[in-house]
Amino acid sequence: MKTLLATILSFLILALASCPLLVLGTSSVPEPLLDVNGNKVESTLQYHIVSAIWGPGGGGVSLHGGRNGYCPLDVIQLPSAIQWGKKLILSPYDNSTIVRESTDLNLRFVGLLSGSKQCNELPLWKVDNYDASSGRWFITTGGLDGHPGAETLLNWFKLEKTNLPGAYKIVHCPSVCESCVKLCSSVGRFSFEDGVRRLVLVRDDEPAFPVVLIPARERSTSV
Ligand SMILES: *[C@@H]1O[C@H](CO)[C@@H](O)[C@H](O)[C@H]1NC(C)=O
Repeated sequence: MKTLLATILSFLILALASCPLLVLGTSSVPEPLLDVNGNKVESTLQYHIVSAIWGPGGGGVSLHGGRNGYCPLDVIQLPSAIQWGKKLILSPYDNSTIVRESTDLNLRFVGLLSGSKQCNELPLWKVDNYDASSGRWFITTGGLDGHPGAETLLNWFKLEKTNLPGAYKIVHCPSVCESCVKLCSSVGRFSFEDGVRRLVLVRDDEPAFPVVLIPARERSTSV
């Protein structure tokens, strides 16, 4: 009996002792996203998503009338580097305040849409149905925020580091549903027939859209 107890105890001690090692070895919390000033990106603040490459090809992201009529609105890149586009909120699937790399996020524009026509939908990024005529998956808006799972699969985007210092690429490769069949691609740009540069999922051999995050309002500490 004593030896049995001793065996159990030593097993427990061994198990407990190896626990911290296991935790250290397997859990790696992704790094926080950093804005252009090097500050941690927070889900309570607003940002512009702007091309990391300045000059021609530059410009921030905004909304534009959809391909088949006005609604739903598509996510586009503005043509000029001095246009930063509409403000956005980045909301991690787990509601954490610090927004991290390689973590599923809702990307949602804030504020009222300009123009008289409004779409009766959230300005929340979403991968649209496959567009057979152009052979593309466009990034459009609409759908439900939060509720990570099968029914919101197309609403999640991650930001990943690129080779350009301080720049990220946007990726749609959701982890919010382990058992789901899913798309897994970077977000790039595609000039649609109307000449507007729309955001789409790109093939592995096509360039992703390198972006930086510019805070919408400078922090009050800079007074
Ligand atoms: C995140 O917030 C929403 C809305 O308040 C809530 O329904 C959900 O349970 C939260 N999720 C987590 C992982 O805390």
